[in-house]
Amino acid sequence: MILPIYLCGQQVLRKVCRDIPAGYEDLNQLIENMFETMYNADGIGLAGPQVGLDYRIFVIDLNVFADEKPEFKNFKKVFINAVITERDGEDVVAEEGCLSIPGIHENVTRKNRIRIQYLDENMNPHDEIFEGYKARVIQHEYDHIEGILFVDHLSGIRKQLLKGKLNNILKGRTNCSYKVKPVGMK
Ligand code: NI
Repeated sequence: MILPIYLCGQQVLRKVCRDIPAGYEDLNQLIENMFETMYNADGIGLAGPQVGLDYRIFVIDLNVFADEKPEFKNFKKVFINAVITERDGEDVVAEEGCLSIPGIHENVTRKNRIRIQYLDENMNPHDEIFEGYKARVIQHEYDHIEGILFVDHLSGIRKQLLKGKLNNILKGRTNCSYKVKPVGMK
């Protein structure tokens, strides 16, 4: 089932999310719905708050890049109750966007390497290191479960320049190809 994507301004996007408890009902259905919602919106990552749930879950699928970059083949993953334990390596700048902030793409500086502990879709624990673009996407999604949006990383001047566009999103004036839930819509 395709879920509406909550837009910037919705309070749930600002919550520090809770762990998904063991035995959480309908976990498989939630994961399936999150992937379906993400693919429908042509996204590569989607986090719990973006579908209105303040739970520590995000999904990522980088297969869309696999033709050009084989390292992304089969990189389809579910991260539950994730904790980033290390961030190091170089600072790398690259452009990001977000399904909750349609129409805005900006350069964001992030660390090139992370270590992350998480549970997969079967609630099996992992402790892994990711680098490069994978580390970037994971950090973007991880930010979501910490109540952070990528625009928070921008300089004051950049934010000022985006104010008009952000205000339009806050007022529900967006032109999305996918189902959204702007502020004020229950
Ligand atoms: Ni995002």
